[in-house]
Amino acid sequence: MTWKRICGTGDVAENTVKKFDVEGIPILLINYGAGYRAVPPICPHMEEPLEESGIVVRCILTCSKHLWAWKLDTLEMQGDTEKPLKTYELKQEDGAILLNVEEELMYEFDEEDEEDDFFK
Ligand code: FES
Repeated sequence: MTWKRICGTGDVAENTVKKFDVEGIPILLINYGAGYRAVPPICPHMEEPLEESGIVVRCILTCSKHLWAWKLDTLEMQGDTEKPLKTYELKQEDGAILLNVEEELMYEFDEEDEEDDFFK
């Protein structure tokens, strides 16, 4: 496990998101006021870039494209959201945000039925 310093705790304003590159892996850091989350920078619904479509209000990240949403402290899916948010391990230490990034987290975007997997 390798912890990497991403930025200072004050570098991402409350209720905003900011994209970082961690050794070639794109990561979106979210400051939701009571804490931080580090997630892949695309919406698990239809790959919308969350740095543009993501809105953080009262601890909830909402993708403004089709309103999928996740509660950021518990990661509970809200409303009609169908996929969980993947997150990187994160900790705060001495005023810095550190991430443990071992490999890039990806979402599956296959819309087809399971039976069609045979043809891939
Ligand atoms: S692309 Fe984000 S909710 Fe549809």
